[in-house]
Amino acid sequence: MTHRTMKYRSAAMLAVFGTTTMLSIAGCDDDVPPADATESTSTGAETDDGVEPAFFTPAERDTILTWLGPLPATPPPDPSNAYADDPSAAALGQALFYDTRVSANGSVSCATCHDSASGYSDNRSNTSEGMGVTHRSSISILNGAYGAAGEEAQIWQFWDGRLDSQWAQALRPVEDSLEMGGSRSSVALLLFDQYREPYEAVFGLMPTLRANDGTPLVPAGVMPGDGVWETLPQSDQDAVNEVFVRFGKVIEAYERQLVSRNSRFDQMWQELADGAADSDALTDLEKEGLRVFIDQGRCLGCHSGPNFTDGQFHNIAVAQVGDNIPQSDLGRASGLQSLLVDEFNCAGPWSDHPNKAECAVSRLADAEGEIGAFKTPSLRSVNLTPPYMHTGQFDTLDQVIAHYDLGGGPPGSFDGVRDELMRPLGLDLPQRTALVAFLATLEGEPLDPALNSAP
Ligand code: HEC
Ligand code: HEC
Repeated sequence: MTHRTMKYRSAAMLAVFGTTTMLSIAGCDDDVPPADATESTSTGAETDDGVEPAFFTPAERDTILTWLGPLPATPPPDPSNAYADDPSAAALGQALFYDTRVSANGSVSCATCHDSASGYSDNRSNTSEGMGVTHRSSISILNGAYGAAGEEAQIWQFWDGRLDSQWAQALRPVEDSLEMGGSRSSVALLLFDQYREPYEAVFGLMPTLRANDGTPLVPAGVMPGDGVWETLPQSDQDAVNEVFVRFGKVIEAYERQLVSRNSRFDQMWQELADGAADSDALTDLEKEGLRVFIDQGRCLGCHSGPNFTDGQFHNIAVAQVGDNIPQSDLGRASGLQSLLVDEFNCAGPWSDHPNKAECAVSRLADAEGEIGAFKTPSLRSVNLTPPYMHTGQFDTLDQVIAHYDLGGGPPGSFDGVRDELMRPLGLDLPQRTALVAFLATLEGEPLDPALNSAP
């Protein structure tokens, strides 16, 4: 299994694979889906000697073993966060994740829109409600620490990748008026008043944020852009930012434990990798769905690797429709611009990265994000996280598959240019049903319930 692990973890190989797929599709007739790369030997019948034939052809089996597979035991390291794998940091992060006092009205926590009961996403409506209503659908936090799970994986955050670490991501909802409506100075004071002991156990001495008589050094409710923050001395800004950034770093440590793994698909993969001719971990219907996934459905073109994502951004022609959805959403094109100037990015002063030139953002200064492209989400435990897409416009996986089968939404309903792979697939109803059944086999084993509430 080791050489296979190396193979599917190689970003270069994935890139080559992507190109090959595109070329083979470009060479096809527009209306004809690419011919099966392989001929199925599956007849469902028993051979003369009574041995059941393998479901997958050797070529299909090789594709499955090479381009998919179980997640590595631990997420890739995050050099931008020196506390990412510190258990005390994770426990503090867990407490803060469930603490509604982070929000301005004391009623919204991270868990409000990332509910463990809905796969750490939000199934209340197409978008999410906190202090206001968001303009995009919530994304599951499960497996966020893995990204594309390769050694060079960059952990893009948000649908548009406007941040490049989970710690920096965690700072944004706090100050977003639609989400928590809070501020960095209030969060810093919350930590100073309520969490000083566990904070200092992780980070050492906390900056003093109140005078002896209890007056806050920086008033509550202050953040950049409000006119007050800009008047503060640099040393006060730094003290608040230091505590605020560490709020994000402990939350990341908690989130790194939220992993969907050991699905029935993984069981089958392991049996095949160990040399079994076939596996009972999946039903024939589910295996047929996997066949569609890797072949006629072209899903592997973007949802590949152990986390079922290439970690990249694509325009899959999702119409900008639905309640609270703006008519236009530039996706990665605007996300990249925000990332480049974000004070909390991997190359910035608050990152612990020992060599900031290695941060992906350092190489993107002159890059342009693709208009209307969004992050390829992981498909692990995807059956738990409706509604789907950045617009939350599909309530069921059947609807998602219908979207792909049509080659995406109608022209003019989305920004930018549809990805090459988004062409009508010509799937029949049994194939679509099988694909949905296969996706449900990616549901991971239940998490330790102790992770699903404040410690
Ligand atoms: C009001 C609902 C709401 C609240 C509260 C909220 N989020 Fe989110 N979260 C969202 C939405 C919506 C998105 C997607 C936004 C986008 O991509 O533009 C998101 C995206 C994320 C992502 C990105 C996942 C990925 O793979 O890209 C993470 C991680 C996350 N939130 C963590 C948190 C944390 C930590 C908190 C608390 C500090 C929090 N959220 C509070 C709604 C919320
Ligand atoms: C060209 C790349 C590409 C291909 C090919 C592709 N996907 Fe996706 N997939 C994406 C992107 C990007 C998104 C998010 C798009 C958005 O919200 O605008 C997505 C979203 C999804 C979602 C919704 C996940 C969620 O959490 O909202 C599912 C399910 C899904 N894809 C399954 C599939 C299946 C099954 C196939 C094959 C039929 C497939 N994808 C083919 C890139 C791709």
